[in-house]
Amino acid sequence: MDLTHVEAPNHELVPHRGIKLIKGTHDPDDVDQIYDLEIRDSDVFVVTYPKSGTIWMQQILLLIEVKGDVTAISKLSSSSNAELMPWIEVTGSREAFITAPSPRMRVTHLQYQFMPRALSQKKGKVIYVARNPKDVLVSYFYFHKLANMLETPKDFDDFFEKFIRGDVFGCSWFKHIKSWYSHKDDMNMLFMTFEEMIQDLKSAVERISSFLGKDLSDEQLASVVKHSTFKNMKKIPQASYEHVPSHLFSHQMGRFMRKGTIGDWKNHFTVAQSERFDDLFHREMKDFPLSFTWDVT
Ligand code: A3P
Repeated sequence: MDLTHVEAPNHELVPHRGIKLIKGTHDPDDVDQIYDLEIRDSDVFVVTYPKSGTIWMQQILLLIEVKGDVTAISKLSSSSNAELMPWIEVTGSREAFITAPSPRMRVTHLQYQFMPRALSQKKGKVIYVARNPKDVLVSYFYFHKLANMLETPKDFDDFFEKFIRGDVFGCSWFKHIKSWYSHKDDMNMLFMTFEEMIQDLKSAVERISSFLGKDLSDEQLASVVKHSTFKNMKKIPQASYEHVPSHLFSHQMGRFMRKGTIGDWKNHFTVAQSERFDDLFHREMKDFPLSFTWDVT
């Protein structure tokens, strides 16, 4: 999250127009005004359900912007990449966006209907990153232990129930992906998955760079890939959020860059939980024109 304006840890989720915001991190009135923001063609929004690869995409976009020169990013930010590419929904971020110089790159977990209407008039660009929701659930469980603004789960089973009910920040995974994907053709949107980035980061970076209209040499692209691998990102404190103040993150409880793998759900879900999740997935997604290959990985 963009932590500049986060006041103090507060676990309370506040219902707001069908989603849940975090008290102390988001201001409902401010969030409502995002819809009216004027959008420039050079604006880029990375849209994710939490734990789907937000900070990964943040690092890739920042690296593409500086043509792979990793030292240029560390000169620009001191604490985390969120200084350069904040979450638009965090209090104070919307106001700063209005006067920020181009290119304005932002990340968000908001649902489609809260985002600037101009995006649906093909202004600006959107990169949506989706991830197997079973892995999202596991990653989110651990993130709730690390992040002090989120309530520490009682145990995995308890969090599992909350996640499938959508009783977490934002909304359910299903609502999020459906709200965005059904408007894909109204926007300049690149739709990507965490899994394809894991399987072939080089191709993913090439697609992103070409979507953004950036002309990078092979060497520059190779540098973007190199500095956005899990192993290398972990060594860069701004990219891995290791310098986030300890009143916001309990660093002894875990790391933002935790495992960075596919299929960790298999180490956490019981057979019954997996079957329940699959049922829910098929019910929610059965008429939706989007298919994933997660089950075969
Ligand atoms: P895990 O908890 O499964 O390890 P977000 O940024 O949306 O909060 O997502 C965080 C997840 O993305 C974490 O997943 C984190 O490890 C993973 N991640 C971040 N950077 C990554 C990278 N370069 N390669 C692979 N996974 C990465």
